[in-house]
Amino acid sequence: MTATTPSRTGVRVERLPLARFTTLGVGGEAEVWFAANHAQLAEAIEAPYRVLGGGSNLVIADAGVPERVVRLTGELAGRDLEPDPALSTDTEIVTGWVGGGVPLPGLIRTLQKLGLSGLEGTVGIPAQVGGAVWMNAGTRYGEMFDGLHTVEIVTPQGTRQVTPDDLEWGYRQSGIARGEVVSRVRLRLTRSTPEAVLEKMTHADEARKGQPKMKTPGCAFKNPGGVSAGKLMDEAGLKSTRVGAAMIAPEHANFIVNLGGASAADVHALLDLARERVGVPMELEYELWPERG
Ligand code: FAD
Ligand code: EPU
Repeated sequence: MTATTPSRTGVRVERLPLARFTTLGVGGEAEVWFAANHAQLAEAIEAPYRVLGGGSNLVIADAGVPERVVRLTGELAGRDLEPDPALSTDTEIVTGWVGGGVPLPGLIRTLQKLGLSGLEGTVGIPAQVGGAVWMNAGTRYGEMFDGLHTVEIVTPQGTRQVTPDDLEWGYRQSGIARGEVVSRVRLRLTRSTPEAVLEKMTHADEARKGQPKMKTPGCAFKNPGGVSAGKLMDEAGLKSTRVGAAMIAPEHANFIVNLGGASAADVHALLDLARERVGVPMELEYELWPERG
């Protein structure tokens, strides 16, 4: 792995296989820009780019992608959870800045220990904060927008700070455009106790018991009209269907798993097959890099 394009702000740039950054474990090489602060992020997005968070919602082609792939590290993966005295009350707190590159699972555990409630419904989502906000990740027990005060968005045109009221967010969508980078957020949380937060987390965790433990990018399709896409796929007899080394999970039909050595083409073929068999229009939840026509 050799450094490629030189950077004037000191960004670490390396050509790397993207498979290692994804939960599916699939994806070829790209030039990865590790942006550790705002100046580095601004430089990283001067040329065509994609932002990679926890890689938990991505199917990346075996040939990789031609654009720069930007990862948030350093200051953009730091967190200040101290209550802001000017904005916090006896019942509610507003934190300092939490970087878009912060791993969500660790953050959720820390908030539980601090007895801060609001985001515990997202327990078990293996995202980074930026990626989880970008798609308003969640479960029926809660979603990212339940605990946001401010979102900072960086684009090649500049930086802006917005509140949830400024965005058209909803089920698995934030209203933040593709390519706009969620660089950091401030959280708005309710003061509770570690025990009460843990109890709520336990319910959300239990809903995951039927999900597969293998390499996967989570649910393939959004639930159409509130009906479980997994249930529809199950009823269409798709569980355990295989193409190459990719398989529709026997535990939950909306999960495609990598049995070892799966290619992006194997996953694409299973997605096509599922859509054809189910017959009801289903919107893809995860993202294909590059996009397919
Ligand atoms: P990535 O997969 O890296 O990227 C996904 C998209 O987000 C891309 O468009 C990327 O460009 C964009 N993005 C990433 N970071 C940023 C950023 N900082 N700024 C702007 N855009 C960014 N999802 C749920 O909603 N609920 C669940 O219960 C759930 N369970 C899951 C369980 C498993 C085992 C797995 C593997 C996935 C699950 N997912 C779930 C899917 C996934 O975790 C979410 O979609 C999550 O929001 C993806 O975040 P990420 O950081 O991994 O983003
Ligand atoms: N079901 C089946 N067969 C299946 C899958 C599900 O019959 O193969 C049935 C279940 O028995 C249950 C119903 O469908 O009666 C709902 O299933 P589940 O509780 O698993 O919920 P889901 O709607 O399939 C959603 C999210 C998950 C989230 C879980 C738990 C979507 C697309 N999926 O799944 O999110 O973890 O609820 O809250 O919204 C993701 O988005 O990547 C994801 C994993």
